[in-house]
Amino acid sequence: MKETLYRLGADIAAPINAALLTDLHDRPFDSILASLEQNEPDLILIAGDLIVGRPPLDEDSLKMAEAKHALSFLRACARQADTFVSLGNHEWMLCEEDLALIRQTGAVLLDDEWQPWRGLAIGGLTPERVRHYRAFRAEQRTPGTGACRYPQGDWGRPDTDHRRSAQDFLDRFEQAPGYKLLLCHHPEYWTQKNPPLRDRRIDLTVSGHAHGGQWRFYWRGFWRGVFAPGQGLFPQYTEGLHEGPMGRLIVSRGLSNTCAPIPRFMNPREIVYIRLEP
Ligand SMILES: [Fe+2]
Repeated sequence: MKETLYRLGADIAAPINAALLTDLHDRPFDSILASLEQNEPDLILIAGDLIVGRPPLDEDSLKMAEAKHALSFLRACARQADTFVSLGNHEWMLCEEDLALIRQTGAVLLDDEWQPWRGLAIGGLTPERVRHYRAFRAEQRTPGTGACRYPQGDWGRPDTDHRRSAQDFLDRFEQAPGYKLLLCHHPEYWTQKNPPLRDRRIDLTVSGHAHGGQWRFYWRGFWRGVFAPGQGLFPQYTEGLHEGPMGRLIVSRGLSNTCAPIPRFMNPREIVYIRLEP
């Protein structure tokens, strides 16, 4: 497990040490906890993909209750430091009861919401895949029928409403007082969305999802990832610190090997530490 430290200047009153954790994918977390206990962050940021994105095996059980490690991971993080969590694309199927289980761990779930914390405004942007499935699920439920928590079928085409609600949240978040720190699972939103996150007044965006590009090779003077979902071959945003005109993006390589049976190559798992300094 690689530990990476970034030191960033920030318009805040006192230094803040944050840990960025992404892409647990319901794997054991002993080594992560050991790192947190050693580094003692003030703040833990979990930017999505706690679980593996399949509906629960038992339709009557809750996905989060069925997950082996995700909830105990959140409880352990919340005991260690103030913990904020946003959703990833693998959390597409979570229903309200699942979200309640996340909130009961003591971690703060930011589902298109932001909260003030020690001079920061910490926001969590919910992925489009989650919004799309929520719109489909809302259509499946008709009054008076016992609707399944996790309906299956063709989701249909994504409409523009869920995209608009993301824009509405980001518009509000840009107006928040303080240093704006956004948890956004997808690093490609930095440039691909309209408007792209890099053009918004957000001081720091933290992401995961790309798993470092899964395989990494040294090519023409740089280490490069080979593939990332949403970015395709030779993606640009798989790890590291990226500067934008309005703020910065930090991408973690993630905590799990992978959720698919493809091993990493030259690409260790990563815990990112971020020290914000006045
Ligand atoms: Fe992801």
